[in-house]
Amino acid sequence: MTSPHPRPDIAPEFIPRHIAVVMDGNGRWAQQRGLKRTEGHKRGEAVLMDCVDACIELGGVEWLSAYAFSTENWRRSADEVRFLMGFSRDVLRNRRNELHAKNVRIRWAGRRPRLWRSVIRELEAAEELTRHNTGLTLVMCVNYGGRAEIVDGVRTLIDAASNGQVRPGDITEETLSQWLYQPDMPDVDLFLRPSGEQRTSNFLLWQSAYAEMVYQEKLWPDFTQQDLFDAVLEYAKRDRRFGGAIEHNA
Ligand code: IPE
Ligand code: IPE
Ligand code: MG
Repeated sequence: MTSPHPRPDIAPEFIPRHIAVVMDGNGRWAQQRGLKRTEGHKRGEAVLMDCVDACIELGGVEWLSAYAFSTENWRRSADEVRFLMGFSRDVLRNRRNELHAKNVRIRWAGRRPRLWRSVIRELEAAEELTRHNTGLTLVMCVNYGGRAEIVDGVRTLIDAASNGQVRPGDITEETLSQWLYQPDMPDVDLFLRPSGEQRTSNFLLWQSAYAEMVYQEKLWPDFTQQDLFDAVLEYAKRDRRFGGAIEHNA
């Protein structure tokens, strides 16, 4: 665990409402130390808990989405996939009471098929336990893919259209948003990826259309609350235009 870092002084309007974080670099962290990749994953658990605390400390962050396992991560070795499934199940079981005590509302975003039943059970138990909490919403993205999410949404929408519940001509961006995994999820403001990789890797594609991307070099097991605060400070300096323009009068 890292020691608590002082909260940076940022005006409330510059605090991101929704932070998405790609928890990446665990394998490289372990390999650099001659350890098994799984040792890096184990280290990442405490880092996520620190990030939850940092978001609560900042105030104003309402949603934190954490990318834990992607729909593409099934391509890894059977051993690593097995470890990651068991690990997700155990983290949820071991941490849910602590998160509940912090008034955190846990949600799951991801695809059901293929995901271990025991993982789904723990995700649903965590959702149920914390559903009335009013603090930070922590979205655990497990077996999540941005394209899969859009495809799943479109499938249900087409079902609704063929039943006559929705008219194709009435479908708007808002309609499709309502069929995504978490219909009340706001757009991502700050998309944060440590580990030096500068790509989305299929995370929250729809919701990140206008996200500010912040890439950092640290590997996830070394990531600290200070790194999160640095990312928010960087975010606070950005000029978000959403396609508009600022008039500069002479
Ligand atoms: C992220 O770390 C964790 C998951 C994808 C589950 P990686 O395992 O991708 O670590 P690197 O990127 O290989 O270092
Ligand atoms: C993204 O990281 C997925 C998670 C962190 C869960 P990856 O390590 O799987 O992404 P790529 O392969 O580097 O794009
Ligand atoms: Mg990676």
